[in-house]
Amino acid sequence: MKILVTGGTGYIGSHTCIELINNGYEVIIIDNFYNSNIEVLNRIKKITNKTITFYQTDLLNKESIEKIFYQHNINAVIHFAGYKAVGESVHKPLEYYHNNITGTLNLCDVMRKNDVKNLIFSSSATVYGDAAQIPITEKCPKGTATNPYGWTKWMLEQMLTDLCTADPDWNIILLRYFNPIGAHKSGLIGEDPNGIPNNLLPYIAQVAIGKLKSVGVFGNDYNTPDGTGIRDYIHVLDLAVGHVKAIKKLLDQPGITAYNLGTGRGYSVLQVIAAFENACGHKIPYNIQPRRTGDVAVCYANCDKAKVELNWEAQFGIDEMCADSWNWQVKNPNGYTL
Ligand code: WQD
Repeated sequence: MKILVTGGTGYIGSHTCIELINNGYEVIIIDNFYNSNIEVLNRIKKITNKTITFYQTDLLNKESIEKIFYQHNINAVIHFAGYKAVGESVHKPLEYYHNNITGTLNLCDVMRKNDVKNLIFSSSATVYGDAAQIPITEKCPKGTATNPYGWTKWMLEQMLTDLCTADPDWNIILLRYFNPIGAHKSGLIGEDPNGIPNNLLPYIAQVAIGKLKSVGVFGNDYNTPDGTGIRDYIHVLDLAVGHVKAIKKLLDQPGITAYNLGTGRGYSVLQVIAAFENACGHKIPYNIQPRRTGDVAVCYANCDKAKVELNWEAQFGIDEMCADSWNWQVKNPNGYTL
């Protein structure tokens, strides 16, 4: 089976491509390297000993996407490509709505024209907003996003739902990631954010390796045991396996459905810092900062639906996530920049 992976050289995309290859799928990647690096292709080859068919383009170049579908008999698409920085989206809403929504609409139109109607969409727990119930199940109503990035995920889920209502031949799975962290066991691929990391884990890792001075903890006055924000961190390898399980499910499940991909456990910022200190073997300096606008206090998943319907459950705990992140950071102090 031939799977087109948009954004396949990105953090989650690259780990998923390796899992797809290991499960016997033929993978085609399209990426524009907006938030990734061509070096990832070399690393995937090192890990899998396979050369992936790759096209450097993006979904806003609809003609180039049409050519790819013309050249390849694609069976399904896993769609990662999209801008994903929460803070950046607040300052660049037009770019985020155009890139994420127009890009997805282009992709779906080309898929429709080629009668390819199997799609896995990279969504996010951010669609729940400040969730009405914790742990969060898929039945929890979608909330109010707190930033344009979150709204693009929220709106695209609605657009894909409407597409399935209009044309029941579509099979779509929405995968709502909680907080992906960690790296491949080889340390050859991992998270390599552009510039100063927005997310907690890469920021901690760069403090641990000495690139940054101290972790700013965004608020310690939340209604949580230690006052800091709680999130459901999930190993990127577990996330990759979840995508392969979803591909298998997609082909025998008509319509659209959503699955939470998390661990069902929440960890606070201070707990994550402590876990990373265990992984790297030394203290990590931090300082308490004011809360970050848009943050919720607590967010973690109930993943029973994925366990039952996808036969999927996260296998790795926070210690292994931190150890694998640290292994990647030590082996790649400057990420993919050689
Ligand atoms: C985690 C916790 C912060 C940085 C977002 C998106 C989600 C997904 C992951 C894309 C919070 C605290 C963070 C720092 C801190 N993105 N924090 N100091 O905001 O839960 O989720 O990123 O796919 O869709 O919504 O992740 O890692 O930014 O924050 O104290 O320097 O760490 O307040 O409690 P978040 P995060």
